[in-house]
Amino acid sequence: MTFLNENPKLIFDNIKELLVLGVKDRSHPFHTPIFTSNNIENIPNSRIVVLRNFDDINLIINFHTDFRSPKIKEIQYNNNTCFVFYDPKLKIQLKIQTITKINNQNEVTKKIWAKTSLSSRKCYLAINPPSSLSEFPKDSLPVHLKGVDPCKDESEKGFNNFTVVQNNIKTIEWLYLAASGHRRLKINIKKNKISFNWLIP
Ligand SMILES: Cc1cc2nc3c(=O)[nH]c(=O)nc-3n(C[C@H](O)[C@H](O)[C@H](O)COP(=O)(O)O)c2cc1C
Repeated sequence: MTFLNENPKLIFDNIKELLVLGVKDRSHPFHTPIFTSNNIENIPNSRIVVLRNFDDINLIINFHTDFRSPKIKEIQYNNNTCFVFYDPKLKIQLKIQTITKINNQNEVTKKIWAKTSLSSRKCYLAINPPSSLSEFPKDSLPVHLKGVDPCKDESEKGFNNFTVVQNNIKTIEWLYLAASGHRRLKINIKKNKISFNWLIP
């Protein structure tokens, strides 16, 4: 462990492995990171999202959302965003700065939508947009879908709302908490050129 945690190249390889695992393993703590964008008044806005894909060659993190969600407008206004991951067992935190691209009704969303289950497609069938006000507590799904999945035909109505948010990694800050001494490494990615800096934790 000491060797791994003093070697930037091995740390970077381990981060990539953990992000791959975070996509595949729904119980892994990296499956549900915090994603932060800024609103129009430059006030940070954070929320949990599900890690849907990690491209370990191009270093891109994906999550899915509804195009009508306020975070889309925030990202369109300012595409500088960040993620925070923490694994309490490994005692590893990742702060990842990203540049975000929104995909809606394009080839990227078509390809992923085709593989999306009916139960996941259902999320995109809400009648009123996410974050709209409601007079009483409810979701906005059509009543006939209470407790059941839509059929394939009906599920297609969600496609226009289905959005793939792609986040290009600019920097990764890795923090490892250890009784023997904490360690902190900054990984800078510029046009696929990787450089490392140790930081005081
Ligand atoms: C475990 C968990 C997973 C979530 N995954 C997503 C997700 O992948 N995409 C998403 O848009 N919202 C997801 N949410 C809901 C968001 O945290 C947030 O409440 C919602 O997107 C509204 O965010 P906004 O108003 O900031 O746009 C998730 C929430 C939880 C608790």
